[in-house]
Amino acid sequence: MIFVLGATGKVGRALVPALLDAGAAVRALTRDPARARIDPRAEVVHADLDTADLPALLDGAERVFVLTQGHSADRETAVAHAAARVGVTHLVKLSTTGVHFGQTDPITRAHAEAEQAVREAGPAWTILRPGAFMDNRFAWRDSIRDENAVYVPEGDPASALVHVRDIAAVATLTLTTSGHEGATYELTGGEALTTEQQVEILAEALGRPVKYVEEPLSAARDRMMRKYGWPAEAVDGFFALKRESAEREHVVFDTVERLLGRPPRTFAEWVGENTAAFPYHYRG
Ligand SMILES: NC(=O)c1ccc[n+]([C@@H]2O[C@H](COP(=O)([O-])OP(=O)(O)OC[C@H]3O[C@@H](n4cnc5c(N)ncnc54)[C@H](OP(=O)(O)O)[C@@H]3O)[C@@H](O)[C@H]2O)c1
Repeated sequence: MIFVLGATGKVGRALVPALLDAGAAVRALTRDPARARIDPRAEVVHADLDTADLPALLDGAERVFVLTQGHSADRETAVAHAAARVGVTHLVKLSTTGVHFGQTDPITRAHAEAEQAVREAGPAWTILRPGAFMDNRFAWRDSIRDENAVYVPEGDPASALVHVRDIAAVATLTLTTSGHEGATYELTGGEALTTEQQVEILAEALGRPVKYVEEPLSAARDRMMRKYGWPAEAVDGFFALKRESAEREHVVFDTVERLLGRPPRTFAEWVGENTAAFPYHYRG
């Protein structure tokens, strides 16, 4: 049985059905089963990683997909140690390309520390290091709905955005076939696009022009705090990561194609799947 942490997040939502389709038995974690909408073929487990008895929670799992949020490695370190205690054979950890590039922002540092804990815990391990997700562009939904506009922070880099289903496909491969133990895989899409090119692709699929607005970092920071209600520390952590990754987000790795034997999904495909998520409610 494969235990998926973060089963209701962007990656987990793609991973659970992919594992089930591959014939695996899946246990999926959430803190809120009533809202989780997890694939009914999976066994849903209700727990919070910060308060659960981790060895009891992980008992019976052969492999664990390790994905948690946050700026600290503590949660994943505790998961790795508990997994070793109860005989888990393989840990697959979701990390970030930032570790490959040696970034020193807090989010990347926490991933680097957690990777180390996973490598040293005892079970076999595989590290997946995706770059920025295409799904991050769902953040454009509100301004498109309200103003048919996209606001991007000045200097936002060209990015080789990766589709979460490609991350899930690689995760499925590493969790259901052998030969990936001790491997670390950087995962990106196949092409780097500027934010302006991304908005053009989106506008073409929507069949209407979308306004592209670059705004100073301070305004972008205020927008994020207002919109997500994140504490200043979390927003600053996000921008620190963005600053450090800016020089590298365009870098394309061929890992997805090498492992899956097909090119990565494109941003145009992602947009095509998600046009209904970007309506414009004209209030003129
Ligand atoms: N976005 C990017 O561009 C990007 C790029 C590279 C790496 N990453 C990394 O990807 C990870 C985020 O993945 P994601 O976007 O798929 O996740 P997400 O959409 O942010 O969802 C977070 C998941 O974590 C679970 N979770 C949070 N706190 C928990 C707790 N205390 N106990 C148990 N479960 C908890 C949530 O489950 P419930 O709410 O159901 O309990 C949910 O399934 C982060 O480590 C991030 O650094 C992101």
